[in-house]
Amino acid sequence: MGKVYYVSKHVGLGLLVLAVTALVTIIALSIAYDKERAKNQDTLGDGAADGTTPVPTPFTPKEPWDRYRLPVSLVPVSYNVTLWPRLKPGADGMYFFTGKSAVVVRCVKETDLLIIHSNKLNLTSFNGHHAVLTGLGQATAPAIQNSWLVVKTEFLVIQLRSRLSVGASYVLYTEFKGELADDLEGFYRSEYTEDGVRKVVATSQMQATYARKTFPCFDEPAMKAVFNVTIIHDQDTVALSNGMEIGTADSVIDGVSVRVTTFEPTERMSTYLLAFIVSDFVNIKSTQNKNLLIRIWARRKAIDSRQGDYALNVTGPILQFYEQYFNATYPLSKSDQIALPDFNAGAMENWGLVTYRETALLFDPIMSSTGNKETITTVVSHELAHMWFGNLVTLQWWNDLWLNEGFASYVEYLGADYAEPTWSIKDKIILSDVHKVFAVDALASSHPLSRREEEVNTPAQISEMFNTISYSKGAAVLRMLSEFLTEPVFTKGISSYLNTFAFGNTVYTDLWDHLQQAVENTPGMHIPHTVHDIMNRWTLQMGFPVVTIDTRTGSITQKHFLLDPDSVLDRPSQFNYTWFVPIKWMKTGVEQQQHWLLQETDSHIPMRVSGEDWVLANTNVAGYFRVNYDLDNWHRLLSLLNTNHQALSIINRAQIIDDAFNLARAKIINTTLALTTTKYLSKERDYIPWESALRNLDYYILMFDRTEVYGALQLYLKKQIQPLFEHFKTITANWTKVPTGHTDQYNQNNAIGIACSMGVQGCGELIKSWYRQWMENPHHNPIHPNLKSTVYCSAIAFGGVEEWDFAWRMFKNATLASEASRLRSGMACTKAPWLLNRYLEYTLDPTKIRKQDATSTIHYIARNIVGMPLAWNFVRARWSYLFKQYGGRSFSFSGLINGITKRLSTEFELQELMKFKEDNLHVGFGSATMALEQAIEKTTANIKWVAENKAHVLKWFNDESK
Ligand SMILES: *[C@@H]1O[C@H](CO)[C@@H](O)[C@H](O)[C@H]1NC(C)=O
Ligand SMILES: *[C@@H]1O[C@H](CO)[C@@H](O)[C@H](O)[C@H]1NC(C)=O
Ligand SMILES: *[C@@H]1O[C@H](CO)[C@@H](O)[C@H](O)[C@H]1NC(C)=O
Ligand SMILES: *[C@@H]1O[C@H](CO)[C@@H](O)[C@H](O)[C@H]1NC(C)=O
Ligand SMILES: [Zn+2]
Repeated sequence: MGKVYYVSKHVGLGLLVLAVTALVTIIALSIAYDKERAKNQDTLGDGAADGTTPVPTPFTPKEPWDRYRLPVSLVPVSYNVTLWPRLKPGADGMYFFTGKSAVVVRCVKETDLLIIHSNKLNLTSFNGHHAVLTGLGQATAPAIQNSWLVVKTEFLVIQLRSRLSVGASYVLYTEFKGELADDLEGFYRSEYTEDGVRKVVATSQMQATYARKTFPCFDEPAMKAVFNVTIIHDQDTVALSNGMEIGTADSVIDGVSVRVTTFEPTERMSTYLLAFIVSDFVNIKSTQNKNLLIRIWARRKAIDSRQGDYALNVTGPILQFYEQYFNATYPLSKSDQIALPDFNAGAMENWGLVTYRETALLFDPIMSSTGNKETITTVVSHELAHMWFGNLVTLQWWNDLWLNEGFASYVEYLGADYAEPTWSIKDKIILSDVHKVFAVDALASSHPLSRREEEVNTPAQISEMFNTISYSKGAAVLRMLSEFLTEPVFTKGISSYLNTFAFGNTVYTDLWDHLQQAVENTPGMHIPHTVHDIMNRWTLQMGFPVVTIDTRTGSITQKHFLLDPDSVLDRPSQFNYTWFVPIKWMKTGVEQQQHWLLQETDSHIPMRVSGEDWVLANTNVAGYFRVNYDLDNWHRLLSLLNTNHQALSIINRAQIIDDAFNLARAKIINTTLALTTTKYLSKERDYIPWESALRNLDYYILMFDRTEVYGALQLYLKKQIQPLFEHFKTITANWTKVPTGHTDQYNQNNAIGIACSMGVQGCGELIKSWYRQWMENPHHNPIHPNLKSTVYCSAIAFGGVEEWDFAWRMFKNATLASEASRLRSGMACTKAPWLLNRYLEYTLDPTKIRKQDATSTIHYIARNIVGMPLAWNFVRARWSYLFKQYGGRSFSFSGLINGITKRLSTEFELQELMKFKEDNLHVGFGSATMALEQAIEKTTANIKWVAENKAHVLKWFNDESK
C-alpha cells in the first residue's frame, strides 16, 4: 500500500521531550507511513511486538467455499464493469451505488462450481439465482442448480447442473447494489466542507480485499484481467478510473439526467489496483514526458491557489528516473494523481490513478513547510515506483508483500533524490527506516520478513502484513543487496525481472533468480554464495546481528542483537541466528575491500590495527547490522569525532551514536561510553547525527527529568547546543532568513527547541517576541512554517493563559489541518497545571477536540513533565467512562497507555500501575490489554535500568557539564 500517515499519531508517538517542539514538525513532515503501519504504531511504542499473530495451525476445510483462497479451476479474462454512485442519499437516508458486471472466465480445470468473491453487495435475482451464466463462442453454459453467499469467506457460490469444460469460456453476469458508506473500504464516500458547503466524493480503496465489496470479482492479486470500465454520474461531476476516459455521453437513465463516461480497457491487472472516483475536482496537466499525459487532480480551490504545482513539477522527473532505472517505459498512457480531503486512509498506488491524502500531494507555497514538501516528494516517489514494481509485475500472494513494499520504500529515496538532488535525501533512510526498524527487530517478539503462502489467508492476516518490518526492514535489506551487488548489477537484475514478468505474477525467489543471472553475466563479479542463499539469512529469520571487531587481533564475531539480553527467544531459526554479512569498512579514512563474514566468527588480519590507526565498519551504513569494537578502537573513533568529525560521513556519525546507545541498552558496552559519543556534538552542525543523538537521549530525559540528574543533564545539553544555536543565528542573519540547506531547516528546529528548553540565553526572548507579534496581529503570522511547531510549543511553555487562549482561538479558526495539529500539540506544552487540566477536560468534549484527536492530545500532555501526572490521574479516574464512550476504533487505548506510562520508573509507580490494572479488571482494557502488560514489563525494566545507571550517569553529566 501507499504511504499514508496519521500525522497526529506520529507526533504523539515520536515526540521527544527534549526536542518537544522540533520534533512535531519533523515527524509530521518527514515520516510517511501506510495505513496499517500507522495502526501498528499503537502497539509498537518503544518497541513492542509488531502486531502479527502467531502462525495458525493448518486445517483443511471440507468445502471449497469454506477456504479463503479461490479454487484454481477458473481464471478471469476480462470484465465489463459499470458503476453508478449516488452522491445524494436515497429515500431511506442511505448513500448507495448500483452496478452491473460481466466477467469472461476461462475454465482450466473441470468443475461444476463457480466461486467468485462478493462482499456486502445485494445481488439482483435472475430466476431465483444471483447471476446469469452464458457460454461464449461454441460453449453452452450449464444451468444453475443453486447459488448462495458465504459471509465468512466473502464468496458467491454457484452450483451448476453439469460441468464446465476445460478450454471453454463463459460469461458470468451480475447486477448489484451496495452501500456507499464512509468506511474507507472498497467504493466509498468521502465528505468535506468547502466554503461552508458540504460536498461528497465517491472514491475507492481496494487494497487489500475490498474490490469484492464493489463488484463480484476474482479478488486475488494473481487473478489479473482486463477491465472495461463505465461510470454513470451527475452531469456536473467528472469520473476517473485507471484507464483514460475515451467517451462521455449525456443521457437519461431511470428518469435521471446523467453522464456516462467510458474508459479505455485497462492493461492486464490485479483487482486491488482498481480505482473509481466521481467528484467535481479539476486538474492541472503536463505533457513534458513524451507520449504521456500527467495530471494532478484536487479541489478547485486547491488547484486555483496552485497547490498542485509542486507535485506536477516532480512527477515528470520521477517517472523519467524510473524509466531509466528500470529500463522499462511507463506502462500506461496517462498518470493521474488525486488529492482527497479527509482521506485518512492514505496514499494508494492504484495503477494510473494514485490516490493521496491532501497533505501528501498538495504544497501550499505560503503555509507549507520544507518538511511538507519532502513528504510529497517521497510519497509520490514511493507510489510511482509501484507503477512498475507491484503493478506491472505483481507478487503472487500477500505473503510476499514485504518485497513489494520494501522495494518501493527503498527506491523512493532514489526517485526523490533525482527530483531534488540538493536535499541529500538518500541519507534519510538511516533515520526513517533503518534505525526505526532496528528498534522493533531487536526484540525477541519480532518476526521474519518472509512468510509462507499457507500462513496468510484471511483478510485480517493479509492486513497484518502491512507493518514496519515489511516496509522498513524490507527497504533496508534490499538496499544492502543493491550495495553489495553494486547498483549497475542490481538494476540489471531488476530490469530483467520486470521485463520478463510484465503483466504477470511472481514469487520473491524469481527476483533472486534474475539478480543471480545478473551477477553471473557480469565479468569479475563475485559473491561468496548465491543471492538466494545470502538473502535467505536475512528474510527467513528475524532480527539482525551485532558484529564485533577486535582491532587488536583482527577477529570478527557476529551475534543476534537483542535489546534485552535476558529476553527469551522462542522462535527457532534454521540458520541459528547467523547471517552472511557483507562488511564494507575503512581503515584510517581509506576504504578497504568488502569483507564477508560467513561464520559466527572469523579473522580478518587487515582489521588488526594499532597506534593511531582506526577501523570503521559498515561504511555508508550499507549493511543491516550493528557494530561493536574493542575499547581501544572505540576510543580512537571518539577521539576522531572530537578532532575531525568530518572524516566520517554524516550517516556514519549518526550510526556510531545509535549503535553505542543501543549496545549500552543491551549491556554490551557501558552507558558512559554511549554518552561519550555525544561529546563532539558541540562541533556538529548536521541534522542527521543530531537527530540520532536526540532520539537516543530522549530515554535519559524520560527516566531522569524528575530527578537531580536532570539539572546536570540540562547543563550539559545547554553547553552542547549553544554553538548550534549561535551557528543558526549567524547563517540566518539573526533569524531573518531561511537556511539554504534542506536538512539545515530541520536542524534549525532542533537548535531552537533544545536551546529554549535548556535555557540558552536569548532563545526564550526570541520566541516570545515572534509569538507576541502574531498575537498583536492575528491575521499576519510572522512565524515561518518550518519553525511553527517549535515556536508554538516554546512560546506557550514560557507564556500563561493569554498565550494559551490565543492558541486556542487560532486552533478553532484554523482552516489548514496541519496548522490545527501544530497548535493542538503546542497547547500541551504549557507548564500551568490548571491549563493542562482544563485541556484534558476538553478532550472529552467532541465540540472542542474531535474524537479522533482525543488520544493524541492526552498523549501530548503526558509528554510534558508537568502534564504527565495530570494525564495519568485523568485517565485512571475516568477509565470506565473513557472505555464506554470511546470503546471503538476512534480511541486508541494502546497508544494512550503507551504514552502515559513512558516515564514510569519507580517502585511506587509500578505499584500504582498494578493497582490500576486490578481496579479496572471489571471494566477491561480492550485493545490496550497487551499495551498494559508491556507497560508493566517496561516499567520493571526502567526501574532496573535507573538503579544500575543513575549514579554514573549523574556523575558523567556533572563531570562533563563543567
Ligand atoms: C473488454 O474490451 C476488450 C477490448 O475491447 C475486449 O477484447 C473484451 O472482450 C472486453 N471485455 C468484455 C467482458 O467484454
Ligand atoms: C462489454 O461491453 C461491450 C461494449 O458495450 C459489448 O460490446 C460487449 O458485448 C460486452 N461484453 C459482454 C461479455 O457483455
Ligand atoms: C441489502 O439488503 C439488506 C436486506 O434487505 C438491506 O438491509 C440493506 O439495506 C440492503 N443494502 C443496500 C445497499 O441496499
Ligand atoms: C514548478 O516549476 C516551475 C518551472 O520550473 C517553477 O517556476 C515553479 O516555481 C515550480 N513550482 C513549485 C511549487 O515548486
Ligand atoms: Zn507502497
